[in-house]
Amino acid sequence: MPELSINGERHELAASVGTSLAHYLREDLGLTGTKIACNEGHCGACTVQVDGVPILSCITLVHTVEDREVTTIEGLRDHPMVNSFVRSDALQCGFCTPGQIVSATALVAAIPRPSSEEIKHAMSGNLCRCGAYPKIEEAISTWQD
Ligand code: FES
Ligand code: FES
Repeated sequence: MPELSINGERHELAASVGTSLAHYLREDLGLTGTKIACNEGHCGACTVQVDGVPILSCITLVHTVEDREVTTIEGLRDHPMVNSFVRSDALQCGFCTPGQIVSATALVAAIPRPSSEEIKHAMSGNLCRCGAYPKIEEAISTWQD
């Protein structure tokens, strides 16, 4: 049986061929922190990390991440970025927020103090229909405070 690792835990992969990673996380494992909005790779709501790199889980087949390390928002609950989003009031409806935080933590793992341009570039795939972008940038630039 193929396996993959989710937030440090090994899981046997029994999903049928063609199942998206987002569907597998939400429906098979109950990890509903990962959101599905467009389901077409346009909005970033479904962002998770695979080996530390942000990817869109709605357009990623779960069998393509066998033996890789997947990190979801549930695996980042103790990351200081979460509190930084709260401190900066960086959300309104909150639907995009898990994906925003997943992308933001990958960014600061690579660049701990990103510039405004680096933040805009790294976060450009995460849309926020509520327009919370200025606060999201503030949260990312102050996450270590
Ligand atoms: S739900 Fe995956 S990119 Fe929109
Ligand atoms: S906070 Fe509502 S979509 Fe971003």
